[in-house]
Amino acid sequence: MEKRNVPKHIGIIMDGNGRWAKQRGLPRSEGHKAGANVFRKICDYADEIGVKYITFYAFSTENWRRPPEEVSALMDLFRAYLREAEERQEENREKGMRIHFLGHREGVPEDILALFDTTEEESKDADRIDVNIAINYGGRLEIVDAVKKIAEKVRNGEIEPEDITEDDISNNIYTAGQDDPDLIIRPSGEYRLSNFLIWQSAYSEFWFSDILWPDFTEADLDKAIDDYNNRNRRFGGV
Ligand code: FPP
Repeated sequence: MEKRNVPKHIGIIMDGNGRWAKQRGLPRSEGHKAGANVFRKICDYADEIGVKYITFYAFSTENWRRPPEEVSALMDLFRAYLREAEERQEENREKGMRIHFLGHREGVPEDILALFDTTEEESKDADRIDVNIAINYGGRLEIVDAVKKIAEKVRNGEIEPEDITEDDISNNIYTAGQDDPDLIIRPSGEYRLSNFLIWQSAYSEFWFSDILWPDFTEADLDKAIDDYNNRNRRFGGV
């Protein structure tokens, strides 16, 4: 078999948890719980096959509008994962997983922010795979946050407005220093980006499927990668 090219950075929109639960007559929170287990499994598999960066969309800036019991069930899942990451520091270090949280800090409960900080700090020397978890994330807000940082530099006289470049934006968004996603995966039959990595995805390939996230398997990730290998990325050239 021809050697496949594993994308360096994969972004995943974990969609379809609610429908998965509904199909089974379960509360939506059970769909998120099942989705969180698939997140863990796909994280490990991505590490195993040599993906360098993987970004999961776990909670958007718009998701606060969901019923309070659903928001709180999601926050509890994040807490459980973060506490588990603390307990499994050694194992995660062996796996070489460096964890980052992408998103706007304001609005996230204080105890979760504290867990973000310890998880990032404890995993910072791992260097096999960077796992980004987007929580309270919105692509437009990410760009606004970057613009504010750059405007501050203009105000301090560190940079002239006419000298601002695309790199200045890339260096001030949450993924600063990381390569842009090569492949973005969205299961559950929706064909939109929903404010996910909108700056970073300018040249990404997209892969959609009807599978609901809690049913997503390692074989589905392989299928997405195989399809990606059959595409011809030209980055605007010929
Ligand atoms: C969208 O599906 C999914 C979410 C808003 C939540 C995604 C979060 C997880 C899978 C938990 C991740 C856990 C950790 C620890 C990072 P939906 O609810 O909109 O599904 P629907 O469109 O079928 O209603």
